[in-house]
Amino acid sequence: MSQLVIFDTTLRDGEQSPGASMTKDEKVRIAKSLEKMKVDIIEAGFAAASVGDFNSIQAVAQAVKNSTVCSLARAVDGDIDRAAEALQAAEMARIHTFIATSPIHMEYKLRMSPEQVIERAVYAVKRARNLVADVEFSCEDAGRSDDDFLCRIIEASINAGARTINIPDTVGYAIPEEFGYKIKTLLNRIPNADKAIFSVHCHNDLGLAVANSLSAVANGARQVECTINGLGERAGNAALEEVVMGLRTRSDLFNMSTNIDTSQIVPISRMVSSITGFPVQPNKAIVGANAFAHESGIHQDGVLKHRETYEIMKAEDVGWGANKMVMGKHSGRAAFRARLDELGVSFESDQALNTAFARFKELADKKHEIFDEDLQALVSEVRTQDNKYELVTLQAHSQTGEIPTAKLTVSIEGKESECESQGSGPVDAAFKAIEDLANSGANVQLYSVNAITSGTDSQGEVTVRLEKGGRIVNGLGSDTDIVVASAKAYIDALNQLESGSDKAHPQAHAV
Ligand code: KIV
Ligand code: ZN
Repeated sequence: MSQLVIFDTTLRDGEQSPGASMTKDEKVRIAKSLEKMKVDIIEAGFAAASVGDFNSIQAVAQAVKNSTVCSLARAVDGDIDRAAEALQAAEMARIHTFIATSPIHMEYKLRMSPEQVIERAVYAVKRARNLVADVEFSCEDAGRSDDDFLCRIIEASINAGARTINIPDTVGYAIPEEFGYKIKTLLNRIPNADKAIFSVHCHNDLGLAVANSLSAVANGARQVECTINGLGERAGNAALEEVVMGLRTRSDLFNMSTNIDTSQIVPISRMVSSITGFPVQPNKAIVGANAFAHESGIHQDGVLKHRETYEIMKAEDVGWGANKMVMGKHSGRAAFRARLDELGVSFESDQALNTAFARFKELADKKHEIFDEDLQALVSEVRTQDNKYELVTLQAHSQTGEIPTAKLTVSIEGKESECESQGSGPVDAAFKAIEDLANSGANVQLYSVNAITSGTDSQGEVTVRLEKGGRIVNGLGSDTDIVVASAKAYIDALNQLESGSDKAHPQAHAV
């Protein structure tokens, strides 16, 4: 069997999903889980994007020991140097530098000639190689780039020291057969191709990211770049869980293995969903709630007689059913802290631990069985301290035939104010009341409610996506009462709008 390198970019490309920004602590939690799942390379961010990204990469580099930690960098001095600086503490560090190679990008975005682009790529790879031993070079928009040109720039980059060559289908334009053929052509035609691992990075604009990645593997690619739940720019990237399980389930075709511990897939999918506020659709392959549920009587009958009649994978192999009831109202602070430690959560201060523990006790009073998912949601909620807005009390009234109302007390910079409003339902009334107080002028782009665990006593996890002046933020709230969860999520989003953070987009500038 050949070995496939799994490169996870949830913390970089995944974070480029509008509204999916993560805090440093959240990134460290996800990175620790990716390490536990045995991901080979974790792209922790784009160091030059912002101080926040730089600090997150630094923290991930300190926390992770068994996976390579990587930073993205455009092919410019400042980006490459900043990436190396952020990665200083990493046990194994990689700089991933890139430049666009398609005619449309070179002419209109870079305003550079093909010769200048090759020169710049070689320069960037050499500069990165002087700082770290492991350098990856990407030909942005390779899916729409000319193969002759790709052969020239890749040969030169390998000569300059790149040991991984990434072929991204940046705009998700490729079709599996065509993309596989591209990889095969490059491997056959580039004289020094054997000195590098060829990688692919596929976007999902036509819903083909996983199919294109697998076709590339069948044609010689030995690294796949992917994200948990397929998160990523626009329609997202290839989903890690689908790539890994596709290769494993059809090992008869691929004869390819990965290091991934697949039993970690569902827990990490839930963690990423809870942290980013991007729910997983029920019919999503591998990690959707219905992925292993059989509704039709004929299917149920078949599965009961012989599981493999309708199941090609075992639910337990990807971590379904792994989460047990972990805690209850009698659990103490030490047990609470120990369980969160196992989930990769640590607290910066005793005060943060105390706040989280107090919330846990409140929850345990309402809900007897507390699962890992409840703890994840609880921690996501207490992630930010020193918020401008805090929900103090909420009273909602709805009755058939009457107009729903909500009355809230909200603390604004420590001073309590009351607000009250009517709405089409209690959630709408609560949002209107909060908005009357905050006067943010933000637009609600998305409102979604998800049950965190099964059972009617489950907490509802609410995501509210607000947009203001082009900035998009996702607020999260969880509670056994979904009106309260909704108000918390709206307030969380307002706090994020208040805190503001400016971040450069990796593909936004010339080079
Ligand atoms: O999609 C893309 O081309 C990228 C590169 C920066 C690798 O994300
Ligand atoms: Zn990408």
